[in-house]
Amino acid sequence: MKINGTSYRSIWVNENGWSVHIFDQRALPWRLDIVELTHIDEAARAIKEMWTRGAPLLAMTGAYGLALALRADPSDANLDAAYNQLVATRPTAVNLKWALDQMKAAVAPYQGQARIDAAYAKAQALCDEDVATNSAIGDHGLEILRALHRQHPDRAINILTHCNAGWLATVDYGTATAPIYRAHDEGIPVHVWVDETRPRNQGALLTAYELAEHGVPHTLICDNSGGLLMQQGKVDAVIVGTDRVTANGDVCNKIGTYLKALAAKDNGVPFYVALPFTTFDANLASGADIPIEERDQSEVTHIDGLGEDGQTLTRVRLTQSPAANPAFDITPARLVTAFITERGVLDKPL
Ligand code: MRU
Repeated sequence: MKINGTSYRSIWVNENGWSVHIFDQRALPWRLDIVELTHIDEAARAIKEMWTRGAPLLAMTGAYGLALALRADPSDANLDAAYNQLVATRPTAVNLKWALDQMKAAVAPYQGQARIDAAYAKAQALCDEDVATNSAIGDHGLEILRALHRQHPDRAINILTHCNAGWLATVDYGTATAPIYRAHDEGIPVHVWVDETRPRNQGALLTAYELAEHGVPHTLICDNSGGLLMQQGKVDAVIVGTDRVTANGDVCNKIGTYLKALAAKDNGVPFYVALPFTTFDANLASGADIPIEERDQSEVTHIDGLGEDGQTLTRVRLTQSPAANPAFDITPARLVTAFITERGVLDKPL
């Protein structure tokens, strides 16, 4: 990914060879704040408070968090404690637990410095895999967008997306956005309807920022607009990411995704879910089994933005009423047209 013409990944190891850099995504798009993580507690806090977010990137931050913990104390007891601390930070996306399991298995045979080295090597390998996976998701999703372009050669293809399943939610490329970037790069005219995605506005703040940095035409819409746009024939496809897909194909994603899937079904608009295989959870039978994170009500009662001075990040209160804040919802498998994965486009989970 490029920001102001400079290439970045969304997580990387410092030149010192051990501390870890991420973006503080809470400041985007207003400020590009790069944060240095030096201790597991900082990694856990960055995940919990959503400095870093998105299912695949949570996993990578967890992996490096474990490496930081082992650097301080590579004992078996600390390995278990660090695993338990990190896995509890955010419950819904399955990728975090998957990555921590991978890390644990990779370091288990070693002790001392060899264990620390194995941890950093595994975290790096997981990040590299994520980049290759998302690139392959882009290749397979591109075929869908090419077909839509063949159907409508005289106009841009309109894609609606929800939340941020872009490069900021992964190590690079994104999942839902990977096919869009591919299509744009090969000259297919694409236009993206970006759901603002209340309460935290990941669409307005992050997806719109990414698309702008890459030069992809896009329009921000409030979360309630998608249904009308679909009725008016202004959406050719919906593509979203996901935090967990259960054995029956139910899709857990950012709150509001389900309503878009219902509207897509009612209007004959294809609804695609882009994901790496690590987001499939064969251990859960259906979406009803997924733990849905309930976040602080202040995310609903307050809103953050840039002050009128154009410089200061400001928080304002919208209401005095109590609020509920379930962060994810479940889209039943019957509403999903197909899954765009690194192994191809699938009608149902394998
Ligand atoms: O709460 P967030 O911002 O971590 O939620 C992110 C999403 O819902 C994404 O769409 C999902 O994790 C897929 S990320 C490739």
